[in-house]
Amino acid sequence: MIADPKPYYRIHLFACTNRRPEGHPRGSCGARGAEGLRDYLKARAKELGLKDVRVNSAGCLDRCELGPVMVIYPEGVWYAYRTHADLDEILDVHLIKGGRVARLLLQPDAQPADAQPADAS
Ligand code: FES
Repeated sequence: MIADPKPYYRIHLFACTNRRPEGHPRGSCGARGAEGLRDYLKARAKELGLKDVRVNSAGCLDRCELGPVMVIYPEGVWYAYRTHADLDEILDVHLIKGGRVARLLLQPDAQPADAQPADAS
């Protein structure tokens, strides 16, 4: 078996910014402010000089009810977030220090009630 090439980025983060029409039963990350949060995340990652981290917008990641959501590779760790403070914590704890933000983690079987982080804004 051929070995995989070394990852191009140390961390590759995909933040859903999909927006469904108003009133859609699943809701959407875009309807909950995901675009502005993505903009903040990208700007802060740049300000922090995280050159080996790539933040990309993603289409629907199919966890709409839990959004806004992101997934971080290569770990495959998911977060739900609401505020700039949530993103600052993910940047500091996960992307810089390699830890996990326990209060924002999404488990595979998470339900919408599990993805309501305290409003820290
Ligand atoms: S709209 Fe974000 S996961 Fe579907």
